[in-house]
Amino acid sequence: MFETLAEQPADALLALIGLFRDDPRQGKLDLGVGVYRDETGATPIMAAVKEAERILLETRTSKSYLGPEGDLAYVDLLKPIAFGADPGPRLTGVQTPGGTGALRLGAELIAMAKPGARVLVGTPTWPNHAPIIKATGLTLVAHPFFDVATQTLDFAALTAAIAASAPGDVVLLHGCCHNPAGADLCDAQWDDLARLLAERGVTPFVDLAYQGLGRGLDADAYGTRRLMTTLPEVLVAYSCDKNFGLYRERVGALYALAADEASAAAVKSNMAALARVNWSMPPDHGAAIVRTVLESAELTAIWRDELDRMGARVRAVRAALADAEPKLAWIADQQGMFSTLPLARSQIERLRLDHGVYMAGSGRINLAGLRVGDVPAFVEALAAVGFPG
Ligand SMILES: Cc1ncc(COP(=O)(O)O)c(C=O)c1O
Repeated sequence: MFETLAEQPADALLALIGLFRDDPRQGKLDLGVGVYRDETGATPIMAAVKEAERILLETRTSKSYLGPEGDLAYVDLLKPIAFGADPGPRLTGVQTPGGTGALRLGAELIAMAKPGARVLVGTPTWPNHAPIIKATGLTLVAHPFFDVATQTLDFAALTAAIAASAPGDVVLLHGCCHNPAGADLCDAQWDDLARLLAERGVTPFVDLAYQGLGRGLDADAYGTRRLMTTLPEVLVAYSCDKNFGLYRERVGALYALAADEASAAAVKSNMAALARVNWSMPPDHGAAIVRTVLESAELTAIWRDELDRMGARVRAVRAALADAEPKLAWIADQQGMFSTLPLARSQIERLRLDHGVYMAGSGRINLAGLRVGDVPAFVEALAAVGFPG
């Protein structure tokens, strides 16, 4: 039967890792892979995470099964971080394998409630969004969100797409630190959007994968919290893989705000049933780390401080780039680890071949791949290939 399978294209970003590794040049720059890097180029284990792992190693007495909902103490402890004030029993959630698992479970929940539902998605977006939506039989409806050539967020196109939608439609939104554009709605736009969604009866599905890596934990959650206080129903796919630096441990959660407590109970039982047929139960270690950090005021303070410093480092790189190259002035106003440079394919290739600068074929760069000291060389390389494209 396997002869019917067509070869899938290799993941271009993973191929880039290999090319970068084999490049012998000193001063080569890896702006491709989407993980945080510190000033030494390392993706460190955060201090609070290390300490939580030590505590777990010493105190755990069992690795028996937990259940399809995962670690519910972890799910509860994350609520005040993500949502601020607790919305009470209308809010329910389960642990998932990463933000990706949360997106998949959320899409399946939507499909269970409303098979084939329309999901509005702004482009460009994270490349995994569309396949997840399509794999669950939902109908993807794309609209423009960000123009790379002019570096402008198209709020009018977003609101026009929602104005043209029907009650029961869903809109997928990046909660903060848009990947790949770095362009987030401002607070006033979130307020307007929440009102419009309420008017139209459209349900937001928020992908919150980088809380704390933009403007700070609370500011990055402004939009999500505004939606929660305005609308009867909200879905949130949360990832701790970036803001706790736990990538390979696969730590996420899917939350749903339901219209009332009874509906929330039904939602939770459906989430658990869907988790059961997908992965039975999520991996435990990463969520146990996050729980252990959040159970301790001391470890929470250490984590927050380190996360703040990570966000500040990315902002410092953004500011240094904007200072060094006036054509990049907009980069200082964007949020999170990613921005997409207006470059032609040929320029991206020349950056790699002639200058040892590696980035995604879309022009997306990971700002955390740069040290402030690398900025002059990077700006020179951009000038040499005739940036912008
Ligand atoms: C926008 C966005 N959403 C979700 C995810 C998924 O994160 P996780 O590694 O937790 O599955 C990512 C990861 O890169 C992302 O960029």
